[in-house]
Order: sequence, then C-alpha cells, then structure tokens
Amino acid sequence: MSEHVQLTARPPVPDALAPARLGPVQLRNRVIKAATSEGRSPEGLVTQDLIDFHVDFARGGVGMTTVAYCSVAQEGRSAPGQIIMSRRAQPGLQQLTDAVHAAGAAISAQLGHAGVVASKAVTGQAALSPSRFINPTSFQLCREITREQMRAVVGQFRDAAVIAADSGFDALELHFGHLYLPSSFMSPWINKRRDEYGGSIDNRTRFAREIASAVRDAVGDRVAVIAKMSMDDGIKGSIWLDESLRSAQLLDQDRTLDAIELTMGSSVKRQMYLFRGDVPVDGMAAVMKEPFKTGVKVLGRQILGEYPYRDLYMLEAARQFRPVVKHARLILLGGINTMEHLDTAMAEGFDFAAMGRALLREPDLIRRLAEDPAKPGLCIHCNRCMFTVYGKTHCVLAVPGGEDRGADASVDASELLASNS
Ligand SMILES: Cc1cc2nc3c(=O)[nH]c(=O)nc-3n(C[C@H](O)[C@H](O)[C@H](O)COP(=O)(O)O)c2cc1C
Ligand code: SF4
Repeated sequence: MSEHVQLTARPPVPDALAPARLGPVQLRNRVIKAATSEGRSPEGLVTQDLIDFHVDFARGGVGMTTVAYCSVAQEGRSAPGQIIMSRRAQPGLQQLTDAVHAAGAAISAQLGHAGVVASKAVTGQAALSPSRFINPTSFQLCREITREQMRAVVGQFRDAAVIAADSGFDALELHFGHLYLPSSFMSPWINKRRDEYGGSIDNRTRFAREIASAVRDAVGDRVAVIAKMSMDDGIKGSIWLDESLRSAQLLDQDRTLDAIELTMGSSVKRQMYLFRGDVPVDGMAAVMKEPFKTGVKVLGRQILGEYPYRDLYMLEAARQFRPVVKHARLILLGGINTMEHLDTAMAEGFDFAAMGRALLREPDLIRRLAEDPAKPGLCIHCNRCMFTVYGKTHCVLAVPGGEDRGADASVDASELLASNS
C-alpha cells in the first residue's frame, strides 16, 4: 500500500499583468507607476501637460498611475510646480482622472507634506519639523511644529483626501517616506520630542497613524488608501529596519491601509541611497546658486552619496515586511526594469510592483513587455532626471514628444532646466 504524503499547497504565483484588487479598486494589472514629482502645475493646478503626462502611462499599459506630488498645504511643497490640494484644483483634478480612466488605467494621488524638505523659496515660510533642525542639504533652519499645527496638518491630509475622492481618484498614497513630515517624526535623528510623539518608535509612529486614521474615517471605502513608507534611509541614527518593521506593524494593525509601498532613502541627506546608480553632480549644481554651486561640484558625490545600481535593490529589505504586515497588500519598488523583475516580485509574495524611472524612460513599457517579455527596459539609471523636478520632470534620454535621443546623449543640465522652467 502506498503511503499518503501530505503536500503543503503553495499558493500559485499571480501574473503581474493580470487584473487584481486593491481595496475597493479593480486594477487591470499589478503594475503601478511610482510617484515622480511632475512639476507641471505652475499655479498649483492641473494643466493639460500634466493630463497628457499621465495619459501616456495609462495608454502604455500600467494598472495605475500616481500623480505626484499633491501637497496638502501650500507650505508643504518641496519644489515648484506641485499641485496644492484645494477645492479650486478640483475641476482640473476631475479632468485628469477622467482622461486617465478613458485610457484604461486607475489613478492615485500622492498626498504629502514635505516638512523639513519643504522649500522656503517655494513656500515663503520656514519648514516644519518635529524638532528644531537644520536641513544639511538646503541649510534651512526648520522650526518645531506645535501640537496645534500638527492637528492642522492631520486636518489638511483629511481634507485633501476628500477632495481627491470627490475628484474621481481611485486611490490615495499617503507620503510617509523620504523624511517628509510624517516620516521625519519616525526618525530619531530629526525627532527629539519629549511628548508622546517622540521617544519610542511607537510614539514616533503616532503622527502617521493619526493621519491614516483621519483619512480613512473621511473617505471610508470610496478609494484605496496606500502608505508609502521608508524601510530605512541610509542615515546613521535615522530610520532603520528594526524600527520601521514596527511602524509597519502598527499601521497595519490599525486596518486603515489597503496597501503599503516600501521605499528607502530620503530627500534630506545621501539622496542616492534612494535612487542608486550614477551620481548626477552636474544636475544638482545647475539648480544651486553660488557659492553652493561650486561647493556641490567639489563635494557633490560626498553629499549625495555613492551607491551602485542593482536590479531590485529594495527587495532584500522589503522581503522582511512580508511576515509582519498581515492585512495590507505590499507593493515592491526599486530597480524594477524587466518582466523577469515583475515575476520575481510576485514570486516573492508582493501583491503589486511600482516602477519609477523605467516608466519615465518608456511610458509604454508595460504594453511592450506584454508583447515581448524578454526585452528589458531602456532606463540606464544615469539619474539625470532627478534634478528635472525643478522644471518639468522627464527622462533626459527621451525628448518630450517621443523622439529618442539615445543612451549616449550629452545633456547640459542648466540648458535643460532653463528650457523647462
Ligand atoms: C525624477 C524623480 C522624481 C521623484 N519624485 C518622487 C515623489 O514626488 N514622491 C515620491 O514618493 N517619490 C519620488 N521619486 C522616487 C520614486 O517614486 C521611486 O521611489 C524611485 O525612483 C525608485 O524607484 P525606481 O527604481 O523604479 O525608479 C522620484 C523619483 C524620480 C526619479
Ligand atoms: S534620465 Fe532617463 S535613463 Fe536616466 S535614470 Fe532617469 S529615466 Fe532612467
């Protein structure tokens, strides 16, 4: 008689290009265009240019595109040309969501407050921080946020979420990463508070949890709610895995989120930890005034940090969140450039994959991968798009309008910015 062997059934690996549910939303596939601050809203309002930008990704086959960056308040902006969420912006936002839906994709709004990354040149005010802080890249002195201001920011996130839901967005992405305001609370490097928002990681996660709760209460299940949160930021004494795993667990236990998108790095120090690949020193110098311009040319690599590009460079850290996050879906980000990378993300247990630069380079990449899965994406991780956020964000190797400039194009960053501001 043959022995019965109990086989443990492993769940089948989903197809990244097949439809999937994200909270209340059905997406046509599991690929999300990651936020890449567009700079196409000079008055804080939607423009035709911004609509065209996102329709390109929708036509190109993504499941959902992410509009970035939608500031919840005028003083929360980190660069010029960002959307300010207000009732004034709603008609344009509605046109944007209608156009993306007509092209077959869902659309998400990244809602954020830049905190210590807010630019005084753009906002006209000193940036807000959990504690007094000098931003080592901008040298700006940031003031400590009061409890009243914190309540106001929670209300701004809530109001922005309602405006987004009323404007036809399918999802909201709460920016809890990159040392923007909610993320800076999680960092012991920036957060030195002695009240119940400082000290232990549970205390430092409180502000983000309050924002997520207020947003969920306000929008119910009209839209999916995602948090983009930092796993670590590569800065000594700041956010590291041991603590961010706890933050993710707390956020997940609240059941306020449909998904968590895992990111790393920051916009405050050692920026290349987020991006990986070539260090665009010339691009950074081009957006600086003297004497910083010369300083950056000499010290740029030290300031930005040097981290070689690796495919799927966030996977190793992100994998550790899978057993901890029990309810929310998980979105893998970072160095996803081929069909094989998408398959790996699914095989590793992630529910969705987000792509930033690969899609900036080729907005129709997903359609192309569906037709020819063996051909990799064309992004070369030169990172020369990084500083185009001060004009209109784009891949410098793809001329707007579609004509390819080729991988060896030499682009002068100051000429580029001048032509796009
Ligand atoms: C030009 C540019 C602008 C970006 N702007 C944002 C942003 O507004 N918000 C955000 O959360 N991440 C932003 N990012 C980071 C991306 O969302 C993504 O996390 C990062 O590029 C890594 O993913 P990738 O390897 O697929 O590009 C930006 C990235 C680039 C290249
Ligand atoms: S400029 Fe283009 S090729 Fe270079 S990293 Fe950005 S998207 Fe990729």
